[in-house]
Amino acid sequence: MDGSTAGTRYDETYAAWRRDPEAFWMAAARGVAWDRGPDRAFDPGQGVYGRWFLGGMLNTCHNAVDRHVQAGRGAQPAIIYDSPITNRAPVTITYADLQSRTAKLAGALAARGVGKGDRVVIYMPMVPEAAVAMLACARLGAVHSVVFGGFAAAELAARIADAEPRAIVSASCGIEPGRVIAYKPLLDAAIALSPHKPACCLILQRPELPCDLTPGRDEDLLAAEAAAAPHPCVSVAATDPLYVLYTSGTTGQPKGIVRDNGGHAVALTNSMRMVYGVEPGDVYWAASDVGWVVGHSYIVYAPLLAGCTSVLYEGKPVGTPDAGAFWRVCAEHKVRVLFTAPTAIRAIKKEDPQGALLARYDLSALDALYLAGERCDPDTQVWATDLLKKPVVDHWWQTETGWSITGGFRGLGLFPLKPGSGGKAAPGYDVVALDEAGQEVPRGQIGSLAVRLPLPPSCLPTLWNADDRFREAYLETFPGYYSTADAGMVDADGYVWVMSRTDDIINVAGHRLSTGAMEEVLASHPDVAECAVVGVKDSLKGQVPMGLVVLKSGVTKDEATIAKELIGMVRDRIGPVAAFKDAKVVNRLPKTRSGKILRATLRKIADGEDYVVPPTIDDPMILTEMEGTLRAAMR
Ligand code: COA
Ligand code: AMP
Repeated sequence: MDGSTAGTRYDETYAAWRRDPEAFWMAAARGVAWDRGPDRAFDPGQGVYGRWFLGGMLNTCHNAVDRHVQAGRGAQPAIIYDSPITNRAPVTITYADLQSRTAKLAGALAARGVGKGDRVVIYMPMVPEAAVAMLACARLGAVHSVVFGGFAAAELAARIADAEPRAIVSASCGIEPGRVIAYKPLLDAAIALSPHKPACCLILQRPELPCDLTPGRDEDLLAAEAAAAPHPCVSVAATDPLYVLYTSGTTGQPKGIVRDNGGHAVALTNSMRMVYGVEPGDVYWAASDVGWVVGHSYIVYAPLLAGCTSVLYEGKPVGTPDAGAFWRVCAEHKVRVLFTAPTAIRAIKKEDPQGALLARYDLSALDALYLAGERCDPDTQVWATDLLKKPVVDHWWQTETGWSITGGFRGLGLFPLKPGSGGKAAPGYDVVALDEAGQEVPRGQIGSLAVRLPLPPSCLPTLWNADDRFREAYLETFPGYYSTADAGMVDADGYVWVMSRTDDIINVAGHRLSTGAMEEVLASHPDVAECAVVGVKDSLKGQVPMGLVVLKSGVTKDEATIAKELIGMVRDRIGPVAAFKDAKVVNRLPKTRSGKILRATLRKIADGEDYVVPPTIDDPMILTEMEGTLRAAMR
């Protein structure tokens, strides 16, 4: 396929960045309102590998909200809350409303002792109050840490213990198809489990399931907000943290990804024009969840930083009420760019393969569909392109980066897309494929994908309270590079193909999960001697986890009972989002002669990839057994 960029501004923009990154990012920084402008773009002498926009002072909430009101855009919708799951009519929040709500909630938090640098955990469903709470923290210079609602109490507890929040903002319940999830018992259990206790909790009472408030600790969020005095924006350093977002690492201990204020505001503001090609006033919709990075960046911060209208959707791609839901929202709110995970499109495709529901809606306002969160299979990308007759752009992302590493760039003119590839490197990223020795492999060959340091603004400067873990996890494998832990290639035309993870992370329905964390849960079952969790191919969710367990000798309990117990344990300890529904008892697991489980080989088998029989394996025949078990589980 033609990889020409002729007629686009991609090559010249990428070259301009390469020639003079300092000038490129200082120019981008002019898109942000600073209380004090930065002295320079990047200082390699600061932090672990350098820091962005030193000397700069700003407030992210001011940039996302107040500055638009000051510029006369107060009456423009900032957020459209569309919640088919609650059957309510969409609610519009203007920039002026958002300013007043944010200032008051910031006042309420300040009155409860939250100040600059303090942490606030936000455990909320997809309601506007989640965005208001995030912005209220940003307004105070407090550091929010949003926890996805599909995690169980133990996962929430681990995040509370690590972030040590002064306050928690939560809701009485979340709503999933067919069930209302009481959040309060989960919150109470998490606080009980955590060694650190917050001083107060502000709880949004939802009419679907109000909850009792714990005296002396909990207060009604809306009442506290209504009674508070508005708080102004607090100026913070560009390098001060805006938020910590925990993401799966290779163990049960999640990694606290740190995002700073200055780099984030610059990169995200720049991305709205450069990557998505939208302008102030345009409607932008990221159909994700505020608990994930895509929700942080493209439901809340970037659209607001750019003065767009952001759709906050509480519903699913299918079943709320049908597979036309996304197209209904696009038509009703005149969405210009939709961003979602390939899984959502696969779910729609499964229920409405001919696009009969899509045909009911006027999608003339929609310019493009962007996909990320997992590799998009070419079939899904081609299906969506044919049906929508608009560009469907895959772009590669990580929680660590906060914006796309590669993609297609509407703001620079779209070059031809190659289905299955994540597009070309975004200006700001020098992406290479390396061999085990850290040498670049020839174009077109698979290697470990890495980004030459420094990473661009918005990417993590470190992990929360864990510089050494940051160095070890990301910088030590290939000195001079950030290791992405994704394998793939850069082709002759410069397109990047992201094929699989090189670590214990799996991607289930666009959700990033650690098989290591699930193994820790399975290993704690009294009858389990050893175990491995692998991601097996799934035609809807991309991958689903499957547990392989070897029982202790003498265990007589039947396999079905053990499997049920294991499934229940993962749901209780990690949460329903793990989608752990398959555990198989096996006689043995493939191991090296020294007794190490061959997880990388198991992963390759599960991915349907060719694998080399490791010379250190104790019994090669077991791999054939494993192939049978894993292939049988694929859907
Ligand atoms: N709170 C509580 N539970 C949640 C939850 C939340 N916020 N989100 C998901 N869950 C639960 C679901 O109810 C489900 O529970 P169940 O096992 O009792 O059915 C479980 O977690 C798995 O959820 P999910 O992976 O979402 O699968 P699903 O079968 O319910 O839905 C899709 C399938 C494809 C419709 C759904 O996965 C989807 O919309 N995916 C897109 C993901 C996305 O936007 N990712 C963001 C990255 S850009
Ligand atoms: P998360 O941190 O949840 O955004 O997950 C990041 C991981 O998801 C990446 O390391 C990839 O493995 C995968 N991923 C995200 N976007 C893409 C994409 N467009 N193509 C391939 N893999 C992707």
